[in-house]
Amino acid sequence: MKFFIDTANVEQIKEANDMGVLDGVTTNPSLMAKEGIKGEENCRKHYVTICNIVNGDVSAEVIATQYEGMIREGEELAALHPNIVVKIPCTADGIKAIKYFSSKGIRTNCTLVFSPGQALLAAKAGATYVSPFVGRLDDISSDGIELVEKIVNMYATYGFHTNVLAASIRSTQHIIQCIEAGADVATCPLSAIKGLLKHPLTDSGLATFLADHERVNR
Ligand code: G3P
Repeated sequence: MKFFIDTANVEQIKEANDMGVLDGVTTNPSLMAKEGIKGEENCRKHYVTICNIVNGDVSAEVIATQYEGMIREGEELAALHPNIVVKIPCTADGIKAIKYFSSKGIRTNCTLVFSPGQALLAAKAGATYVSPFVGRLDDISSDGIELVEKIVNMYATYGFHTNVLAASIRSTQHIIQCIEAGADVATCPLSAIKGLLKHPLTDSGLATFLADHERVNR
């Protein structure tokens, strides 16, 4: 399973990239706003900065909600850097735009997906990635991981090539569940990725190794 980091924070992207396990980045307008990045020009500069850090796909989301605007904005975003994947919401205009970009060889990430039906439309339109939002479904007492499983199974049954990119990941446990569900990618906060390292037996085992080494070498 690939790891993307779900942030527009350059320091966190660098830290994850330096670990050597980062495969890409996802952003959205809320994550860009959180970093205080405003204005079209600044946003685009920021996407290029991220693309120059990570050797992998970087999702940049369109703000337009109508088909023509999505096409114009998506083409401009895709032209910024070869790593850019155009992120498009799962609406009627969005699905139509994904179909257009697919025919032009421009990679897309269909976002804000909450049902297998939406994921079916994204795949039929030729999306490169589909993003089911795990945490936001859990927030409303639904089951986000179950949705990931359903999409993985549907794509396998019908031979779709769209990658299942589990998004709205909130915890290390979510990452483990994504692996079990067969997700192609999980896009995660840095804290959840670092959480994978933690095990008390690793800490206590290392302490014992070092103490034994010290005992016979002092
Ligand atoms: O990848 C989508 C993600 O940014 C949404 O996460 O935690 O706002 O539901 P969250």
